[in-house]
Amino acid sequence: MDKELIIVLDFGGQYNQLIARRVREAGVYCEVHPYTMTPEEIRQMSPRGIILTGGPNSVYNPESPHTSRALFEMGIPVLGICYGAQLMAYTLGGKVSTAPVSEYGKTEVDIDDKDCIFKDVSDRTVAWMSHTDYIEEMPEGFARTAHTPVCPVAAMENREAGLYAVQFHPEVTHSEEGFKMLSNFVYGPCGCRGDWKMDSFVEETIESIRRKVGDGKVLCALSGGVDSSVAAVLMSKAVGKQLTCVFVDHGLLRKNEGDEVEAVFGPEGDYDLNFIRVNAQQRFYDRLKGITEPEEKRKIIGEEFIRVFEEEAKKIGAVDFLVQGTIYPDVIESGLGKSAVIKSHHNVGGLPDYVDFKEIIEPLRMLFKDEVRKAGLELGIPEYLVFRQPFPGPGLGVRIVGEVTAEKVKIVQDADAIYREEIAKAGLDKKINQYFAALTNMRSVGVMGDFRTYDYAVALRAVTTSDFMTAEAAKLPWDVLETVTSRIVNEVEHVNRVFYDCTGKPPGTIEFE
Ligand code: XMP
Repeated sequence: MDKELIIVLDFGGQYNQLIARRVREAGVYCEVHPYTMTPEEIRQMSPRGIILTGGPNSVYNPESPHTSRALFEMGIPVLGICYGAQLMAYTLGGKVSTAPVSEYGKTEVDIDDKDCIFKDVSDRTVAWMSHTDYIEEMPEGFARTAHTPVCPVAAMENREAGLYAVQFHPEVTHSEEGFKMLSNFVYGPCGCRGDWKMDSFVEETIESIRRKVGDGKVLCALSGGVDSSVAAVLMSKAVGKQLTCVFVDHGLLRKNEGDEVEAVFGPEGDYDLNFIRVNAQQRFYDRLKGITEPEEKRKIIGEEFIRVFEEEAKKIGAVDFLVQGTIYPDVIESGLGKSAVIKSHHNVGGLPDYVDFKEIIEPLRMLFKDEVRKAGLELGIPEYLVFRQPFPGPGLGVRIVGEVTAEKVKIVQDADAIYREEIAKAGLDKKINQYFAALTNMRSVGVMGDFRTYDYAVALRAVTTSDFMTAEAAKLPWDVLETVTSRIVNEVEHVNRVFYDCTGKPPGTIEFE
């Protein structure tokens, strides 16, 4: 059976990844590529359909990303969204104009033709608009399929040529029937069956890893985070004993986390990973002694991690492959033809220089985060690991303001464990995207029984966010905060004050350093 593929050509819009996710949700494998991909390159991938994304530009600006007529003449169905719609109209001889005012936000759209893209969609539907330019005249062969009071052509089609365009954004959830429209495109003109599922992905990936690795040796750095855990288990299902996983405990993990990771992945656990735990806590504390500058701390932790990992790898000897838990959002190339967007934070310090390996293997490079989680569940990884909240590579090192010491690590671990326990008890753990305790560098006067205290202040952080680029402080119920505060000051030594961080991002960041 041939593999169904939809290609999204990225023209620089902000929802590009979302389009790919929605198409995958409809059961069709989908990849995002830069708009500069040529028709020949596209043809070689044999996609069932092409989607052109939105973008911030105007088609009449010569600097704007453009495309050629050839793209629309390949006999592959094309759906243009927003800028993609305008570009289709412009390239094929229609007229695009600039409106005096932008149309922005939820907009009622009247559907004129419900035979194809708008099959089973309401006569009047709410869709998300975000544009100033609009299609004034359609190219030859096109018919209007939707309109709004300010947008004479909110959608158009040339069904014979397999070309479709919508001015609004069906991929965002504000477009109430948008998913239906995208599904209509992939099942209708593109003729997809929609049978791409996580179990088939897992099976296919295991097969292709086996072919690639042969009888080679594989090394994987396991952090216990979602991505590296899923990558490690996937690799172990594929190549079994040829895989060695090294877990570096840098002493900056959450309370009991090192033991939890070992319990799942170590010799007593359910997987056969050739698991090596390196207890390097003291090495990290020694290197961090007296260091207070945040970037320097991050650098030291990253470098030390690499050194420890290299030493361990040397004991194993030469390997053929090194596993990285890179996921799709890290590799998607920007639509404007710039080099790949790299995550601003690397997972503990980048690549080891001196590990002797021939090739990198990235089994998750085509998956979005939620798909990595699905793959994890498919592989039988426990839910609490699969749905773990993000944890930064430098760990508690960036949640202890100022110098890191073993004593401070213990304080923040204990406070954080209490906080997490109470959040879960209140049923809030799935509603907040990230929450943790941090240790401020402040000591202040308090009173405990009849005694004066002079101790640390713990800060509690909880944020809701969709992408971790911006975030809002979660409005935690006061009684939860009261319980957590009282437990922390009573149960954790050297803490006499608890603050709640109400700052959003920006201007704050999620972590403290
Ligand atoms: P900030 O603090 O920049 O954090 O608002 C945004 C998200 O990134 C995580 N984070 C990191 N993740 N290595 C990582 O793998 C890092 O060095 C790092 N620093 C921050 C942070 O937990 C949040 O989810």
